[in-house]
Order: sequence, then structure tokens, then C-alpha cells
Amino acid sequence: MGARRPTSERRLIVLIALFRLEELADGCARGLDPSQSGKDTLFALRSGGEVQLYRNSCPHLDVPLQYRKDRYMSADGSKIICYAHGAQFLPKNGLCVYGPCIGERLTAVPWIERGGWMMVDEAALA
Ligand code: FES
Repeated sequence: MGARRPTSERRLIVLIALFRLEELADGCARGLDPSQSGKDTLFALRSGGEVQLYRNSCPHLDVPLQYRKDRYMSADGSKIICYAHGAQFLPKNGLCVYGPCIGERLTAVPWIERGGWMMVDEAALA
């Protein structure tokens, strides 16, 4: 008789609260540092009422997108801009529609809402 082996892996889910969703106005974005690394490794935005969360890394050269704190969006709030070389991304899906990485996408990060807060699974940050 052999030892019993688990049929599935189980893990503890640790949720990290990022910010209250009501604090994010339409057409605006917010840089986030959930690991407290001193750098905003994620950013959230609200566009057309929908909220998205992306890694703060341009698919062109893997650098942060913003030119200063919380500045990720075009002046009219219709596009995400990488300020390194001017790539433009659609807020709803992160697709690059203009610039050197056209056709590539920002990396979306799954999140959930709990009690009005945007929350992420700590494992999604690895
Ligand atoms: S690094 Fe983003 S467009 Fe070049």
C-alpha cells in the first residue's frame, strides 16, 4: 500500500486591497505599488465606466509607461500612452493601436471587488 497523495493542490489565497474604486474617476488612471517596492508595478484605470488593471510594463521595451505619477492616459482619457516612444493602447483590452509595439498588448491582471475595494490575489503579483 502506498501513501495517499492529494488529488489537487490547495493554497491559501491572500487578497491585497489596492484602493477604493470610487476614488477612480472616468478617464483617469492610478499607479499602484502592491509589493511596496517603491515603484508602481501596476496601474488601474476607469474608461467608459469599466475598470481595468494592468502591469506597468510596455510590451515594446519592458519599461514603465507613465511620465509622472498617475499619468498613463492621453489628455482626453481615450488611450493609454507609453511616454517612452508614444505607443497608444486601448483602455478596454490593452491592445497597442499605434507605435512600435502595434498589435501587442499590455498584461491584464485579474482583480475582484470586495466592499468597494479593488483586490488582487497576492499570487497574481509574482
Ligand atoms: S517603451 Fe513603450 S513605446 Fe517604447
